This record gives sequence, C-alpha cells and structure tokens, in this order.
Amino acid sequence: QIIPPFKNEPYIDPSDPEVRSQMMLAFERIRSHERNYDLFIGGRYLSTESKIVSKNPADPDEVVGTVSKATREIVDKAIDAAYFAFKSWSRMPASERVVPFLKAAQIMRDRRYELDATMILEVGKSWIEADADLAEAIDFLEYYSREALRYGQSQPVVQIPGEYNELRYIPLGVGVVIPPWNFPSAIMAGMTTAAAVSGNCVLLKPASDAPVIAAKFVDILREAGLPDGVVNYVPGSGSEIGDYLVEHPLTRFVSFTGSKEVGLRINELAAKHQKGQKWIKRVILEMGGKDCVVVDETADTDAASTGAVASAFGFQGQKCSAGSRIIVVREVYDEMVKLVKQKTEALTIGDTTDPNIYMGPVINESAVSKILRYIELGKKESKLITGGNRLKRRGYFIEPTVFADASPTAAIAQEEIFGPVTAIIEARDFDHAIAIANGTEYGLTGAFYSKRRDRIEKAKTEIHVGNLYFNRKCTGALVGVQPFGGFNLSGTDSKAGGRDYLLLFLQGKSISEKI
Ligand code: NAD
Ligand code: ALA
Repeated sequence: QIIPPFKNEPYIDPSDPEVRSQMMLAFERIRSHERNYDLFIGGRYLSTESKIVSKNPADPDEVVGTVSKATREIVDKAIDAAYFAFKSWSRMPASERVVPFLKAAQIMRDRRYELDATMILEVGKSWIEADADLAEAIDFLEYYSREALRYGQSQPVVQIPGEYNELRYIPLGVGVVIPPWNFPSAIMAGMTTAAAVSGNCVLLKPASDAPVIAAKFVDILREAGLPDGVVNYVPGSGSEIGDYLVEHPLTRFVSFTGSKEVGLRINELAAKHQKGQKWIKRVILEMGGKDCVVVDETADTDAASTGAVASAFGFQGQKCSAGSRIIVVREVYDEMVKLVKQKTEALTIGDTTDPNIYMGPVINESAVSKILRYIELGKKESKLITGGNRLKRRGYFIEPTVFADASPTAAIAQEEIFGPVTAIIEARDFDHAIAIANGTEYGLTGAFYSKRRDRIEKAKTEIHVGNLYFNRKCTGALVGVQPFGGFNLSGTDSKAGGRDYLLLFLQGKSISEKI
C-alpha cells in the first residue's frame, strides 16, 4: 500500500454549530458513565484495588475516571510480557509494524470529539488547545510511521570492491515511556508511538493527572490491531513504581518528558549500572523552560503584544514552551507594558467546556500553591500590573498575571513557574536583550519580534534555544515543520516530530559480506 506524503492534521472550528453540538454530545456521553480503566499488560486488562482518581480541575468533585495502579510485581510481569512480544515485533518488517499506528490515527480522527472532550474535562484545556493536542497526536502517529519506513530501508553506505556492505537500524529492546500531563494526548502518544513503531516494546507510565486519555489511546492501539505486549499500560505513582521502572536491569531505555527535577533524577538513576544489566541505558529527557519573547524598537508592537500574551497564557501558561519572560528594549518598553496589560485583561477565564473561554483552571491544588507562592515573590521582586489572584470559585483558577520591571535575575524571571504568570523585563538595547534571553539555565523556545534583517540574522546565531521563532509566538511547534526539543537544562534536544527522533530508539548494525 502506498502512503501519501505527510501533512499536518487540520483543526476543528469551535464556532461551527455542528462542531459545537458534537462536542456537547461528547461531554454528555463522558459524564453519563464514569469509567474505571484497568492496566493493560500483554494484551490483558488487569484491575487492582489501589486507584488513581482523575478529577476535573475546573470542578474537583467531578471524577473523570478511576484508573488501576500498578505495583512492582505487576511491573515485572509487564516487562516479561514486553520481552515476549519483542521477539516477534522487533523482527516484523516496518511495512507491517506501521499498519496498526496508521489505523489508530484514523480511529482517533473518528473519535475526535470524545478525545477532545476527555482532555477538556481531565486537564482543563480550551477547545482549541485540546483539538491542537489531538491533531498533534495524530500527526505523530502519521509522521513516525513514515519515518519507521524510512529507517526500515537499507541505509546508504559506500561500497568497496570484494565486499557487500549494509547498515541496518534495529530496535533497542523494552523501554519505559514517561510523559507529562500537559500535552496528555500529543506527547504521550508521540513518545509511545516513536518507541514502538521503531520495533521496541514499551511500558507506558502515564502522568497521574492525565491517565484517562492515555488509557483511551492504549485501547485505540488494541482496537487498531497492535499485537499484545507491544504497548503496556502501567499507571502508578513516581515514588511507587517510577524509580523501579527506571532502575530495572531489563529496562533498555527511558523516554521521559517532564520537569527538570524529575528528569535529572531519572538521568542519575538510569546511569547506575544494576546487577544483571547488559547495556548502558539510553535516556531521552525533555524538560522545562523559561522561554522568552524578545521585542526590539522596530517591532510591530501590536503583533508582538498579541504574540507575547498568547505565548504566556495559552493553556494557562502550562507549556514547556510558554513565554514566561517578555524582554523589551527601552524605546518601546512602556508601550509594550500597556498593550500586554490591555490584552491580558481581555482574556476570558472559566470552565473550558464553554467554547468561548480562553483560559481554564491550572492542573491541581499543588500547582495553585506553587503559582501563588511565585506571585507573592513577584510582588516583592517587581511590579504587579495585572492579575495576581486565585478566583473565588470552585476549581483551580488563577488570573493571568503580569509583572513589569522584573530584574533578569529575579526568581520569577529565572525559575519555571508553569502557570499563568509572565514577567516583563526592560533591556537597554538589542544586544542586552539577547544576553538576558540567554541568561537562564534553560534553552527551549524563544521568539524575536523585529523588522531589522541584520538583527534577525544575528539572533539566529546568538539566541541559544532549541526552537527559535521570528515575528510569531514561541509556542505551538508543528510536527514535521518545527522539530521540538531544547538545549541546556531543557533537555537532550531530541527534536520530537523531526527526522532525527526515531534514531533515538534504534541502534545501527553494520553488516559486511565478502563476495
Ligand atoms: P513531572 O516531572 O512532575 O512528571 C513527568 C512524569 O514523570 C509524570 O508521568 C510523572 O508521573 C513521572 N514521574 C514523577 N516522578 C517520577 C519518578 N521518580 N520516576 C519516574 N517517573 C516519575 O512533570 P509534569 O508536571 O507532568 O509536567 C510538567 C513539566 O514537564 C514542566 O516542567 C514542563 O516544562 C515539562 N515539559 C517539557 C516538555 C518538553 O518537550 N521539553 C514538554 C511538556 C512538558
Ligand atoms: N510542542 C509544544 C509547543 O511547541 C510544547 O508549544
């Protein structure tokens, strides 16, 4: 079968009456039957007594689903099941391995409203953010399937007289996939698909704040005909099974996306050789950001302020790519402060089952406490110009918050807050702005607004981030278009959604035959 060239999945239009009625129906259906989701190991569902309860952050009394939790004994069983499956899955031609993933992409399109609605209820995404998340997940399945076919071919090597030489890419073994909750469909499905479509078998440990959407994805893979044991669903807490999964001597690789703290811990644990371990574990770590939108005096300040506000407050600022620093040169500083304040105050905030709402709740009570702590710190360090409060209503709502006159070294300008808080920083000039942009331990995304070609060219070299954008926001990388991954403590720069990504789950075997 010929697969057409990759193209990005289009989005729904929330203003379309048909879309509205389908989505409302999806909310009703999900709400009318609260579900329990079991573990899925070696093709069998398994229920345990201990559960994760996934709640709606807009109304924590609403349970979106309960999910069985794996124990260490169950993890051992899942690793055995995965190695059993690996024997045949790793030897299957790529042309056969991609089939269930391409079918799953189609099932996801068919179940789009249900999956969007699940994310809206489970993590508080707006309609547009939820659908972009789902479209990205579909893109990952489609893109990585094509990549698996490319890597499945014999690779070009130089031939010399008297020998036939080949380079083949083969999978690594059984790995652990640990995604974050904030792109609960895209990153979870992307990481899982990349590992599995390359011929590896996977234990997927979903984030405890978004296990329901992950359970649905695993069920879609089953429905699409993925062989038993290739993807195993093992939810559980980091402390109970997280370290165990990472340290297990049979774990061949760990693919992690999440916070710097957990990522560095995984890096350390995975580096330690365990008794009986036959390899150096491969570790892929994508972590946090303290991303910036830089604006110079030639920029279109209207476009720059719109981009800065979207970068800061899309999905409540809970993106690794969020523009949590707005760095503005002196000449346009006051104007930018005024525009950012105005546009922030125009944002709607509330329950995102309403399609007109831009900003929903943050993920949980501990996120509220952390964000409010930073807001208090921000009030001491700089000038609060709008927001700063938790809404007096049910759920985890925090106003979009902007600080101005922040020092580049202030905590709110250095540490990842992961909430709806941004800091405006004044720069003397363009060079100073670049120095400030580079002045954190992270290096994930950045945007630069300017009309000067020479500065744009200089910024291409000098702003040290994995994803750099000009005259547009610093969030919303598209699969295949802007491969995604960060420098420094933002991670291993894996470039998800790019041509290098699948190599991380493969090893090259050179084969030479005398003829
Ligand atoms: P987190 O680090 O708290 O959790 C990430 C995952 O690790 C979850 O599945 C969690 O259950 C698991 N985990 C926690 N402790 C563990 C342990 N000891 N062993 C194994 N697994 C463990 O992060 P989060 O709150 O889910 O996500 C937010 C963070 O993720 C932010 O820092 C954000 O910047 C980052 N992020 C980065 C990217 C990227 O591509 N760079 C993308 C999205 C999110
Ligand atoms: N890939 C996501 C973005 O670019 C995190 O915003």
